[in-house]
Amino acid sequence: MTSSNTQTPDNPKKIIFSAIQPSGTITLGNYLGALQNWITLQDDYRCIFALADLHTITVRQDPPKFRRNVLEAYALLLSCGIDLEKSIFFIQSHVHTHAELAWILNCYTQFGELSRMTQFKDKSLRHADNINVGLFAYPSLMAADILLYQADLVPVGADQKQHLELARDIASRFNGAYSPTFTIPDPYIPKTGARIMSLQDPLKKMSKSDDNANAYLSLLDSPDDIVRKLKRAVTDSDGSVAYADGKDGINNLMRIYSCITGRSFEQIETDFSGKGYGDFKAAVAEALIEHLRPIQERFHMLVQDKAYLESCYSKCAQDALHLSGRTLKKVMKKIGFVL
Ligand code: TRP
Repeated sequence: MTSSNTQTPDNPKKIIFSAIQPSGTITLGNYLGALQNWITLQDDYRCIFALADLHTITVRQDPPKFRRNVLEAYALLLSCGIDLEKSIFFIQSHVHTHAELAWILNCYTQFGELSRMTQFKDKSLRHADNINVGLFAYPSLMAADILLYQADLVPVGADQKQHLELARDIASRFNGAYSPTFTIPDPYIPKTGARIMSLQDPLKKMSKSDDNANAYLSLLDSPDDIVRKLKRAVTDSDGSVAYADGKDGINNLMRIYSCITGRSFEQIETDFSGKGYGDFKAAVAEALIEHLRPIQERFHMLVQDKAYLESCYSKCAQDALHLSGRTLKKVMKKIGFVL
């Protein structure tokens, strides 16, 4: 099947850039909200994905844990279906152009703009003892990530939209001050994908930094963990499996079930009419366990094959350096650096 995004000489594939922080567990929320989408985008777009490890050190990391988290996240994302025949998937710190362009963009970003970023304000409150300059300049590094690859589209969740807006502003400002240099990236709003909420407080987004481990599901949770966490998931006293206002817990479980099985809310309501929440939760758990089983199997094989992983991320870092180097060079030339 051909689609409007299929590459032809006069219609090159659009470029998508996205990144995720390797800061511990990857949750079901990350997977259904973003990663599953990355996997499907690979057929229609030129996808460039990264593990944003430079962003991760804006919060203090334990060195051995950090190293393990990065390698495991790399293996896990490959296990989820990032296909290196189609896409580039690299580790941000391996490609030195990111830190370099970030510095340059810092000089084209206003203090006032960064002060207005809501994530900076939130994180300063949460890490009051370590409000470092990296936390403040986080969005200009993110702008560098995106602009280095001349990305047309960036899939981001609601929490990163403001950062993408800023990347667009920085790019336009630079283009205006010199001459067209950067593609202005648009947000990519996925056709599918869902905002998955905490199992314990369905008004809050599912997050790995939740103090309560029952609030989130990790992609590496065992079948027992999955069953237990779903059993404990907060619901309501209505008792019918139906998608409706005020039934946030059940709505969330229905979104999860629908993403995993492809069944619509109407179909789910029919399937479970006359059945209780216990049956529904058991079905969600079962579907999840089956869905995650092959991912976990691939992960456990890959994560032991250090040589293979290294060959993957080294090759991708080279490709990323080649692409991003061209942009950085253009930028430096325009500014007037001696090259
Ligand atoms: N800041 C993003 C997050 O925490 C991760 C990220 C880094 C990113 N660089 C990016 C996302 C560039 C999109 C584009 O989710």
